[in-house]
Amino acid sequence: MKQEISVFTTADELADAAAELWIKLALDAAHQNKEFHVALSGGSTPKRLFQLMARDSYANRMPWEKIHIYFGDERFVPQDHPDSNFKMATENLLALVPIPSENVHPISTDKHNAEDAARDYEALLKKSLPKANSQLQFDLVFLGLGADGHTASLFPGTAALQEKNKLVDAVYVSKMESWRVTLTYPVINNAANCVFLVEGSAKADIISEILVDKNSSYPAAKINPTGQLHWMLDQQAASRLEL
Ligand code: 6PG
Repeated sequence: MKQEISVFTTADELADAAAELWIKLALDAAHQNKEFHVALSGGSTPKRLFQLMARDSYANRMPWEKIHIYFGDERFVPQDHPDSNFKMATENLLALVPIPSENVHPISTDKHNAEDAARDYEALLKKSLPKANSQLQFDLVFLGLGADGHTASLFPGTAALQEKNKLVDAVYVSKMESWRVTLTYPVINNAANCVFLVEGSAKADIISEILVDKNSSYPAAKINPTGQLHWMLDQQAASRLEL
């Protein structure tokens, strides 16, 4: 794993850099006539990136016909629910760009329960993703960071953190009294590129604990991809780093 930390003055500059990185990686794949498989992160941080990527000055450079969109995690709610990561990504990006609908792979939350949704998504990944090191490989996984050190829906104290075989797991998040579906370490850590997008002063402490104190107890600290790990931070989130 190669790790890179980049700090940007503002959240807008962070989103621009993330968009340019995504376009570069996608074009590199397209120039080799390869598809590009990317897992989007959820929560609020990526909204700025999605809105930027939907602008013509970015969207017109993206080889959308080669792009396959997945989700790093999903809240187990209907796709029209305000908490749905799919809803947020669709409203701010996917419905606004010419990506073929068959290239968008949401986690199906209309299943009987989160476990069924996880099994269904794992089957989809096995059909869709290419392999590297004899394991399924995403070209790019975007990740967020919670103040408690979770990423995707790999929350502290959950069994999903110990999962060594399943690629997708169902997680009950007791403090939120809600079910989630998440990619697990086996598939995230086989990604060619993992990119954390972290902004805001509320994340400064957890960023410092993970990147300065090297506290490896947090779920996000266990993201160690075979490829490139890129922490992309705004100045507020990086305010406790001495770079
Ligand atoms: C989710 C995310 C989650 C998120 C962090 C940060 O579904 O909520 O995947 O891991 O990235 O909780 O969320 P914010 O960007 O809203 O701070």
